[in-house]
Amino acid sequence: MFQALATLLLLPALAFGYADPESCSGECVVSDPGLIRRVSDGKYFRFSTGNEISYASSDSLLGPWDVIGSVLPDGSKIDLAGNTDLWAPDVHYIEETYYVFYSVSTFGSQSSAIGLATSATMELDSWTDHGSVGVVSSSSKLYNAIDPNLIKADGTFYLNFGSFYDDIYQVELNSAGTKASGSAAYNLAFNATTDHSEEGSFMYQYGDYYYLFFSSGACCSLDTDRPAAGEEYKIMVCRSTEATGNFVDKDGVSCQASGGTPVLESHGTTYAPGGQGVFDDPEEGTVLYYHYINTDIGYADDDKQFGWNKITWSSGWPSV
Ligand SMILES: *[C@@H]1O[C@H](CO)[C@@H](O)[C@H](O)[C@H]1NC(C)=O
Repeated sequence: MFQALATLLLLPALAFGYADPESCSGECVVSDPGLIRRVSDGKYFRFSTGNEISYASSDSLLGPWDVIGSVLPDGSKIDLAGNTDLWAPDVHYIEETYYVFYSVSTFGSQSSAIGLATSATMELDSWTDHGSVGVVSSSSKLYNAIDPNLIKADGTFYLNFGSFYDDIYQVELNSAGTKASGSAAYNLAFNATTDHSEEGSFMYQYGDYYYLFFSSGACCSLDTDRPAAGEEYKIMVCRSTEATGNFVDKDGVSCQASGGTPVLESHGTTYAPGGQGVFDDPEEGTVLYYHYINTDIGYADDDKQFGWNKITWSSGWPSV
C-alpha cells in the first residue's frame, strides 16, 4: 500500500523531471544540429545552421568538438534569397555517400527550397552541391520548404519538411533519395491552436512504430521577444505504424489535429530546447540531441548550445 502510494507520487515527478543536457566541450554553440558517425573511423560529425552549414568533429558525443569549416563555403546554387545563409542540415549515409540536406529561405518567408550536398568522406572541400531536390515553396503553397529530414521506410525514401504555413509535410523521393518523385506533398502534423508553430521534424523508427519528433513554439529572438512561459520551443513526438501518416500522440489525438506529446521542455537553466534529432550511438544507445538556451549563458540566437540525453522507452514512448 505504502509502496503503491510512493509509486503513484513518484510517477508524475519522473514524467516531468527532465534530464539536464549532457556536458559539452570544444565548440558547443549550434542551432539545428545534425549528427552522424563516419563509417571509416567512427568519428562524430555535427552539422548546424549558419556559416553555410558549419560542421565540427569529435571522438566523443561529449566533445571536444573541433570546427572543420563550412559544407558549402560559397553557398547554394539554388537561385533564391537566402542561398548564402543555409539552414537546418539533415545528414545521412546512403550507398557509401554522405548526404546533407539543407534549407534555403529567409526568416518568415515562404519562398524556400530544400537542397542537397554530398561527399564521400566529409572532409573539408569534399562537398558537391546538387542544388534543389525539387521541394520548393512559394506563397501559393500550403507549406514552407524548410527543415528537411530523410527517412527510408519499406525501401522508399521520404523527405519530411516544413514549418509555418500548415506545419509538417512529407514528399516521396526517387530511389536514390536525391529528388522529389513528382507526387504531391501531404501533411503529417498541424497545430490548429496556433498557426506557424511546428517545425524541424525528425522521424525515427523504433519497434513497430515511426516516431515523428518535431519542435513546437517560438524558436528565435528569445532574448528580445520572449513568449508566455511554455510557448517557447519544446520537443514533441507523435507515432504511427506507417511513415506516411496517421500520427497520433500518447492520448491518441491525431497530430494533424493539434496532437503531440512533449519529450523535452524548458526546465531549470535549460530553455527552449528544439532543432532535435535522434541518433543511435554505439556507446550511449539511442540519444535525443538538440539545441537549447542555457539561461546562465544567454538567450541570444547565437548562444544556443548543443545538448543530448539518452532516450528511455516506456510503453513505446520516448522520454529523457
Ligand atoms: C499547439 O499550439 C499551442 C498554442 O501555442 C501550444 O500550447 C501547444 O503546445 C501546441 N501543440 C503542439 C502539438 O504543437
